[in-house]
Amino acid sequence: MKKKDVDKKKINEYWEKNTPQKWYSDRENDLLFFNELAYKRYNVFYKYLKSEAEFEYHRNEKVLEIGVGIGTDLISYAKNGAKVSGIDLSQEAINLTTKHFQTLGLKADNLLIADAENLPFEENYFDLVYSFGVLHHTPDTYKAVSEILRVLKPQGKFIVMLYRKGWKHYLKRLLINGLFKGQLFKYGYQKTINKNTEVKGDSPLTIIFKKSEIKRMFAVANKVTIEKHRLGEFFDYAPYETIKLPAFITRIFYLFGLEKLLGENYIIKGYKKNEVTLSSNKKKLSAWEVLTDTYKNY
Ligand SMILES: C[S@@+](CC[C@H](N)C(=O)[O-])C[C@H]1O[C@@H](n2cnc3c(N)ncnc32)[C@H](O)[C@@H]1O
Repeated sequence: MKKKDVDKKKINEYWEKNTPQKWYSDRENDLLFFNELAYKRYNVFYKYLKSEAEFEYHRNEKVLEIGVGIGTDLISYAKNGAKVSGIDLSQEAINLTTKHFQTLGLKADNLLIADAENLPFEENYFDLVYSFGVLHHTPDTYKAVSEILRVLKPQGKFIVMLYRKGWKHYLKRLLINGLFKGQLFKYGYQKTINKNTEVKGDSPLTIIFKKSEIKRMFAVANKVTIEKHRLGEFFDYAPYETIKLPAFITRIFYLFGLEKLLGENYIIKGYKKNEVTLSSNKKKLSAWEVLTDTYKNY
């Protein structure tokens, strides 16, 4: 997959104005605001995160979050004893995350404005790199993945969430908005997707991934798992002041494990390999060197 031709300034401007999660609360950046957002995140919008992000299992490890937003997940690692660092492209996100840590009396090693495609950290540094809903908004997702593998220690773990090209993508974005409302003809494929993702819509870039693309992207890592999660809007909550399906229907879906079939988020986990042998020249290279070299061809 090629690097997308989108100006990062536009991406930055959008996220400065549309701070993630803020719309879940009427309050203004105080203790109750941060606590309310955390409650809603883990009990309404992303129920699966409490277990899948493994917050309790990285005590004393050096954890990096890429794209912290308002910092709720980084706080959850910190509460459980991890040594946390976070970066985000947006100044507003870093300001809010800093305030979030101060308000809860917690400490972070680093909270920096930085780009996922050029991480300001040395190689082989972190035990865990976590990123949730971020790398599909950056023009060169391959480069960002190679950066994750660079800053991870050998055998270090990554947990990444990327959007999945599933039924909602085809039904809502392509059929209803794309074809019936004519957006595909007016704006083309990528802009139609951008218009119809994110709570406020009109994101400068949202890439929706197929499993095969994700497999290729993480091919140089070890023991990679890719799982679907989250039924999301209409099932877990009522989007855009519309409706939520009756609880018994949602329960049936979850009871029969349909989240694993229909989920709209991919959770990708794996470990950094010590080194990778290229069959072409039998030369041993570090994983990120291989990836950096490989992604140029997509
Ligand atoms: C949808 S929000 C997700 C935030 C947070 N992880 C969450 O789940 O609430 C996307 C975030 O990614 C950040 N972002 C987008 N592109 C980035 C990049 N290239 N490097 C670092 N952060 C980026 C945005 O500023 C924004 O805060």
